[in-house]
Amino acid sequence: MKEKKFSSSVEIAKPSDESTTRSPSEDNVQQQWQKVVRRRSFLTGISLAGASVTAGALSLKQLSAEPARSSHRLSKGDAALLRFAAAVELIEADLWQQYNELGGVQGGNPAYIAALSNLDGDMPQYIADNTDDEISHAAFLNAYLISRGAEPVDLDAFRTLPSSQATGAKDIGRLTNLLDLNVDLSWYTRYRSGKNPDLGAQFTGPFDIDHEPGIPLNDSDTPPNTAIPSASNQTPGSSFVGAAARMQAIANTAGFHFAFIEQGGSSLYPTLAFKATEPEVLRVFVSIGGVEIDHFSLWHDKAGNAVAQPLALLKDPITGLTFPDLNALHSELDQTNLILPEPCDFISKDLPQCSVIRPTTTRNGGAVATIKAFTDDLLFKGQSDGFFTLINRLAVEADSVPGGF
Ligand SMILES: [Fe+2]
Ligand SMILES: [Fe+2]
Repeated sequence: MKEKKFSSSVEIAKPSDESTTRSPSEDNVQQQWQKVVRRRSFLTGISLAGASVTAGALSLKQLSAEPARSSHRLSKGDAALLRFAAAVELIEADLWQQYNELGGVQGGNPAYIAALSNLDGDMPQYIADNTDDEISHAAFLNAYLISRGAEPVDLDAFRTLPSSQATGAKDIGRLTNLLDLNVDLSWYTRYRSGKNPDLGAQFTGPFDIDHEPGIPLNDSDTPPNTAIPSASNQTPGSSFVGAAARMQAIANTAGFHFAFIEQGGSSLYPTLAFKATEPEVLRVFVSIGGVEIDHFSLWHDKAGNAVAQPLALLKDPITGLTFPDLNALHSELDQTNLILPEPCDFISKDLPQCSVIRPTTTRNGGAVATIKAFTDDLLFKGQSDGFFTLINRLAVEADSVPGGF
């Protein structure tokens, strides 16, 4: 293939002992990059007074050359961290596949898709894409473990939980249960607060979602062709009745459950990254973890639409759960469009508050904390003792790796 040349100029850092603006050779660029990787810092050992390089001198092939892959065996600690991540991604992939079968862009339940679309017209596409992401995370992590001489994670023996009986769901065994969820909403308050759980703060959510399904249970509970009023027609949530109200409550629960799952991933990956000893393993955690944060931010925004007008005040006729109008409370801890993290205490209350992911300590956001949160969510309702033994062992092994916070 013909090599392309960059036509624009690129700013590349140069060593501090260089005072001219000559173009560094490719070797020089590579040396600098290796320094960055070794020291885990873009600032260490490199002057930021960058030399202006005529990028036309560097070919695309030269600049995009793949970094050398690590080929030696993983350390025991790095393998334990990666194995726990692989287990969580298999769990995430399993639950997202269930949402996708029913409510994704090619999902099979029209009423569920219509109810999800009341949160945002693009919900079905986002569900499909989030599902693809999780499948790719799980497949990559296991393949990476194998490529580095470590054992992958196989949870197939535990795909024993029942599927939804609703139109659209495949009748196959599942790792996770979405039929009876307790969704912890403390993340909603936590990210609007200036306090940090890693510095002792505790939060409760703005309301409770207890024992609600995240997906339709069966066609008699929520017929798949139920007419769902369109929120885009400014239909108040309180005017939803019968099966339509039930289906909308299930879709609203899903919206909050999506954000619950992904905020967990947003905290978990930093805790794993802090303990990685190899730059390449650190790269894996930081790169996947960033996508979990992307997911969380998206779902945080969409869930808020379930508790804002016109959808707010919808009541599930079966369980009695009511989705409140959180904007009516006129509180910054509730306002639905405050989806970007509020600056909060970080490291020390003596330092200025900072907008960060929280928690990021092993105790509050690590592997054991993640499995406890998923268990409290009833995500594993009906799972076998063998499953809990394995998943808890993987979690303890990851949290026991030295380092981190
Ligand atoms: Fe993931
Ligand atoms: Fe995720």
